[in-house]
Amino acid sequence: MAELQGKGINPGLAVIIVGDDPASRVYVNNKKKACAEIGIYSEEHALPAETTEAELISLIHTLNGRKEISGILCQLPLPKHICEENVLLAIDPKKDVDAFHPVNVGKIMIGDYDFLPCTPAGVMELIKESGIDPAGKECVVVGRSNIVGKPQAMLLLHAHGTVTICHSRTKNLSEVTRRADILVAAVGKANFITSDMVKDGAVVIDVGMNRNSEGKLCGDVDFENVKDKCAAITPVPGGVGPMTIAMLMKNTVRAALL
Ligand code: GUN
Repeated sequence: MAELQGKGINPGLAVIIVGDDPASRVYVNNKKKACAEIGIYSEEHALPAETTEAELISLIHTLNGRKEISGILCQLPLPKHICEENVLLAIDPKKDVDAFHPVNVGKIMIGDYDFLPCTPAGVMELIKESGIDPAGKECVVVGRSNIVGKPQAMLLLHAHGTVTICHSRTKNLSEVTRRADILVAAVGKANFITSDMVKDGAVVIDVGMNRNSEGKLCGDVDFENVKDKCAAITPVPGGVGPMTIAMLMKNTVRAALL
């Protein structure tokens, strides 16, 4: 960071949180902490749940115009009365460190992008650093959200994987997941992926962040029963989560260079 700052490049991240969702509060605190640890300036805009869409968009316009803010992140989900699409559209695509703006989503689709969305990019980094090459492999993504499932499938495709996306209406889900050499679970349901759904020797990436019946943090994968049959598996917490934050830091620095 000192090297960048020596060149007059000062990344700065504005994090917006609306309302008091406890999970969002934890995520936002972790993002601010990571900035502090590596010396990125950050500021939090904590707005009450009653904030109007117009007020939120007005704040984003102000942040778009501020030179010392290179990245803007609006934590999702937003309260129901605010249209997420309108809010994401208001963020300057060059400051969109989540890569949720339709311009950035489109750029990712064609493989010519400034930013990658943090969680799918973190998953790709984990795969790469583990010495696993998705090229030619059966990659199955369970979940089709705009934040994870869809962009994850695209990034695996860019890495030359043969990609299948499964979702709540997929027939014979376990038949499809059992084909996977690389299985990414992004469903949002505790213990959804059971050992009978996983091929021996598969690589299993758990993007889930749930609470089980005892209130303990857990992923989408039944870790205890899956871990012995796969070649590699990510834990929750401590797997994909820290990678998401690392990718956010990378995007914030990149935004300062644009
Ligand atoms: N909510 C859950 N994941 C994310 C994320 O990566 N970015 C934002 N802004 N909100 C989220």
